[in-house]
Amino acid sequence: MSVKTDTVRVELGHRSYDVRIGAGLLARAGAEIAPILARRRVAVLTDENVAARHLDALRDGLGDIAVSALALPAGEATKGWAEFSRAVDWLLAERIERRDVVVALGGGVIGDLGGFAAAVLRRGVRFVQIPTSLLAQVDSSVGGKTGINSVHGKNLIGAFHQPSLVLADIGVLGTLPARDFLSGYGEVVKYGLLGDAGFFDWLETNGPKLATGDMAARQYAVRRSVEMKARIVERDETEEGDRALLNLGHTFCHALEAATGYSDRLLHGEGVAIGCALAFELSQRFGLCSQEAPSRVRAHLRAMGMKTDLADIPGELPGAGALMDLMAQDKKVVDGRLRFILARGIGEAFVTSDVPGDAVRQILEDALARR
Ligand code: GLY
Repeated sequence: MSVKTDTVRVELGHRSYDVRIGAGLLARAGAEIAPILARRRVAVLTDENVAARHLDALRDGLGDIAVSALALPAGEATKGWAEFSRAVDWLLAERIERRDVVVALGGGVIGDLGGFAAAVLRRGVRFVQIPTSLLAQVDSSVGGKTGINSVHGKNLIGAFHQPSLVLADIGVLGTLPARDFLSGYGEVVKYGLLGDAGFFDWLETNGPKLATGDMAARQYAVRRSVEMKARIVERDETEEGDRALLNLGHTFCHALEAATGYSDRLLHGEGVAIGCALAFELSQRFGLCSQEAPSRVRAHLRAMGMKTDLADIPGELPGAGALMDLMAQDKKVVDGRLRFILARGIGEAFVTSDVPGDAVRQILEDALARR
């Protein structure tokens, strides 16, 4: 079955770029990337797992473009100063010049680290994102947020640096473990919930097909997600306002990820899914949306076999107070007030700093009591 490649343009003036979405893009990478190369060579940053699965295919696809590659250890622990400085030193040792292109081949960790390395190398070189996880295809590879983690929290060190091209090969999604695919699906659902009720309806019907490998459904879901992200990034590239909508569910998620030690007890997209359900519950408590909305969110996540609540997180969790303290570390704190994303209904999210801490604590206490 072949589905044609879609292109979503991210319009940012002289930093505009295309996100190409389709099956078989790795095999055509040379033709896709060649127009932006000043000389026929690229440096590829990847991780060991992705390298084992996809690096040979990318080399073949790049044809006569010279490739040097560095595979970092897989996993979130890579996204810190140690591997970052190793990557930057390697790029310098490879004599990557100002007009050269770095390719980030991998999931969110590699995309964020590789993008940040490109942002600082010789004060900025261009880079191409080739996201290999669903999460990276629908979210982290688009929009130019790059960076690494600090001992003080996730993504606290970084830069806005837009890629010059994104190649989202939906064919590679077939190699993902089911749990990783579903974790990425948490971010897909987020787009429906934040701004497109029709897309959420579509996901309720087509989500199961997507999970079992329907390529046309996967392509549509990735394209629609990227379109929504692109339009938001165009309006607010550096998150002064509307871009915060993309953080629906993330304030809860970041606290839960910190509480579970960024371990495989809770994957990022699983935390986003739980966080979205809690954000709708909070919205409903304020009378902003109907009682049906949070139930519908949870029903869909459950139908997809996803985590929907704190009760689905294995092992101990700290109390509501400690989770609130973890939320206070979030980048979304402005003048000590948490910025929350709430919703007036499915597809109608908005950003607010007016959420009383007591209401958040009550939601968490109730969710902890359900465990
Ligand atoms: N992942 C959220 C953003 O790109 O703004």
